[in-house]
Amino acid sequence: MHYIKMINFRILFAILVLGLIVACKHEPGKIIPTPPIVPLPDCDSTVIKFTTDVMPYVNSSCVVPGCHDNKGPAAGIDLSSYDAIMNATVRGVKIVKPGDPLNSKFCRVLFLLDLVPMAPPFNYQLSNKAKDNFVKWVQQGAKNNAPCVTRVDTTQFKYRSTIAPLINKYCTGCHFGNYNSGNVLLTRYSEVKAVVDSNKLYQVIANIDGFPKMPTGVVTMQPNEIVQIRKWIEDGAPNN
Ligand code: HEC
Repeated sequence: MHYIKMINFRILFAILVLGLIVACKHEPGKIIPTPPIVPLPDCDSTVIKFTTDVMPYVNSSCVVPGCHDNKGPAAGIDLSSYDAIMNATVRGVKIVKPGDPLNSKFCRVLFLLDLVPMAPPFNYQLSNKAKDNFVKWVQQGAKNNAPCVTRVDTTQFKYRSTIAPLINKYCTGCHFGNYNSGNVLLTRYSEVKAVVDSNKLYQVIANIDGFPKMPTGVVTMQPNEIVQIRKWIEDGAPNN
């Protein structure tokens, strides 16, 4: 008798738990506006990650002060965050159509498929790798995704192969030509070296007290990338 009661209790308990799961899944009326950052379980290298493969380029080449930042953005197009990019419209049409790069202005403007080319001709131009990332990211659904681990090899810190590409990815767009934010240019080696010599390059990247955080906005360099910059500077910041 006691035994049967136990079994009944267990069945009841199981039904209760199942009921709760179903109830939670079908909870009505809760619309989540944007998906949270989804870490990729398999770190598939064919998947473009928004936070590391797209946003750093957008931040440096488009969110330039006076361009598509969130303080009165050019043409009303704010590109300063994932949400802003996904909500941005031109004449009522979203600039990102997930899965469809050909019909996404976010991609079209990079390839002269529209009247207005971006970045403007006298600005710092996006690399082919960056453009490729933008297209693939939209093609793959324009998700707010991040890598599950950062595969950055801190034994590599030569200027031309490692440091220059990092500076070009994270910094140059805001520190180029007429867009010399803070009177700092970061276009070529001599300019980068001058910033190192003024004891500012590592300080702004590592966000050391008293220095403005660089890059500005939602982007931060990966910890291992900051280590690469530090090691290169400790090595004398050579043009190697
Ligand atoms: C989205 C634009 C933007 C990006 C990207 C950006 N900067 Fe800046 N940077 C600015 C602005 C604006 C200032 C001036 C404002 C200030 O000093 O607070 C500035 C100032 C600086 C200064 C001068 C700081 C001082 O105290 O004199 C340095 C050095 C600098 N940036 C380096 C970098 C480096 C290195 C990167 C890349 C890791 C970078 N910036 C990326 C906009 C940017």
